[in-house]
Amino acid sequence: MYRSHTCGELNASHVSQPVTLAGWVQTVRKFGSITFIDLRDRYGITQLLFGDTLSQQLDENPLGREFVLQVSGTVIERSNKNLNIPTGEIEIEVSSFTILNKSITPPFTIQDETDGGDDIRMKYRFLDLRRNAVKKNLELRYAVNRSARNYLHEHHFMDIETPFLIKSTPEGARDFVVPSRMNPGQFYALPQSPQTFKQLLMVSGYDRYYQVVKCFRDEDLRADRQPEFTQIDCEMSFVAQEDILNMFEGLIKRIFKDVKDIDYPEPVQRMTWNDAMVHYGNDKPDIRFGMELTNLKTVFEGQTGNLAAMSMFEGAGFKVFNDAETVLAIAVPGCSEYTRKQTDELTDWVKRPQIGMNGLVFIKCNADGTYKSSVDKFFDEEKLKVLADICGAKPGDLVLILAGREERTRKATSELRLEMGERLGLRRKDEFKLLWVLDFPLFEYAEEDNRWVARHHPFTSPKPDHIPVMIDNDPTITDADHYLSHPYSNIKANAYDMVLNGNEIGGGSIRIYQRELQEKMFDALGMSKEEAQHKFGFLLGAFEYGAPPHGGIAFGFDRLCSILGGSESIRDFIAFPKNNSGRDVMLDAPSSIDDKQLKELGLSV
Ligand code: AMO
Repeated sequence: MYRSHTCGELNASHVSQPVTLAGWVQTVRKFGSITFIDLRDRYGITQLLFGDTLSQQLDENPLGREFVLQVSGTVIERSNKNLNIPTGEIEIEVSSFTILNKSITPPFTIQDETDGGDDIRMKYRFLDLRRNAVKKNLELRYAVNRSARNYLHEHHFMDIETPFLIKSTPEGARDFVVPSRMNPGQFYALPQSPQTFKQLLMVSGYDRYYQVVKCFRDEDLRADRQPEFTQIDCEMSFVAQEDILNMFEGLIKRIFKDVKDIDYPEPVQRMTWNDAMVHYGNDKPDIRFGMELTNLKTVFEGQTGNLAAMSMFEGAGFKVFNDAETVLAIAVPGCSEYTRKQTDELTDWVKRPQIGMNGLVFIKCNADGTYKSSVDKFFDEEKLKVLADICGAKPGDLVLILAGREERTRKATSELRLEMGERLGLRRKDEFKLLWVLDFPLFEYAEEDNRWVARHHPFTSPKPDHIPVMIDNDPTITDADHYLSHPYSNIKANAYDMVLNGNEIGGGSIRIYQRELQEKMFDALGMSKEEAQHKFGFLLGAFEYGAPPHGGIAFGFDRLCSILGGSESIRDFIAFPKNNSGRDVMLDAPSSIDDKQLKELGLSV
């Protein structure tokens, strides 16, 4: 027996008991003839007391950080208690010890506040994982996993594994491919998600499926994206959108309760995609704070219905607003006293290439009821007041206005809103706001190929009353400049995303389950009959054998964990993540393979 207890469980109730512990040396402190050692394992830290004789033995055989040590001794009460840790009332008076293994000096300190930079910690990830901060993240991940599995099991979902070596059918992201030795010149692909398999399982009658499953996507990486990541992937038969929303709201609430002890209030807020775009400028709004977008262009173009306001702006003569496709504003609470330096800094912020605007207009709504702006030349105080009022600004607020091309300005204003929310401390990590975003467009227009692409994926059904629009219209885009007037632009999908604090943590849809409609969808996406048959013949065929109505959702497990854990980066919640270039710096992968392997695979590089 290596140990009788762990390093996290002994307390005052164990005093006088003989115990044996094993763990890693965290610190060694010598005080005259005695030595204190903090011994650490997964469960905590226990202080060891080495008396005169043993201390002398240590002098002869010094222990270093991260040595693996086994000690036997007696639990005694500490004179100098540390009530911050569970074992802080006791220590072990050591009677014998064995060094189970040595360690060379670790490249960084194994502590919450480590001196190791990102790269070195990733290279020695096995050491980084010993740190409490990282361990807590993995514990949270496991708690989310357990909670989800329990909920899904209780609701009769069955965990069914699906294959990793599949056929390459890239739609959204690029596939990772695997060469086949037995079929030279041919490749498997790793699944971007088990989408088609879970639908086939519905055809097979497994009406509630789930899997906590690895997905692989060869896409550009960001803090919330990894090339291999994990989904909680679910599918149900005989359901409509409402059934899915209720079931998976339940799942998330259960996770909140089990993992964070939060009773999330009923029900989760819902918003259409259109409203999200209009009020927040993006499809995953952070609703922890307001500061909604106001479209001022309507004022200048007289669409507000506010005739007085309209006539005031006729001939206001500010070219930047007049020429812009759109003019969007936010009212930032309590910032009217921003200095010149601060507004200049904000202007630089929107001019950065990542945001890409030419400038920023501001109106200070002073507490005394006066107004001051960066465009005083064009707008007198009366006009400024009208503009500020339309934006819902109150005395003390600062109105920030961006003008330019539609899409860029919307994106930039949305980013500016998030930035101001961050600066004002309105995006608290311990506050959680869920949101369902509904009624996404079914199609997006891909300019480079002049064709439609599926916004979610090609298996997503249109809203029931939009099905005829899809069937009755030719998808061909004859006038690329005016694709928005094509009937397909207005078709809404029976799809939904779950958003948590401004992050998309899950997405899904009600599926197409009839061959004809699925074929029409492939046709709409510019796929020939032959191509559709080649890529998805198995699914089209399956739909002919009694496919039930079905739908589902997949949650980004890593993302969910990172947000619950209060971090921006999903890497912190993955035991062995890749870096931003998609490399595993510990393994040094990807790497080249030797000529023999290449030859066997029939490849040349
Ligand atoms: P989708 O592509 O929206 O849907 O993915 C579902 C969720 O997975 C997470 N996610 C990622 N997390 C980390 N790194 C990535 N590279 C990454 N890509 C996606 C997101 C996202 O919301 N088969 C469909 C689901 C369905 O229709 O049921 C699908 O995969 O949190």
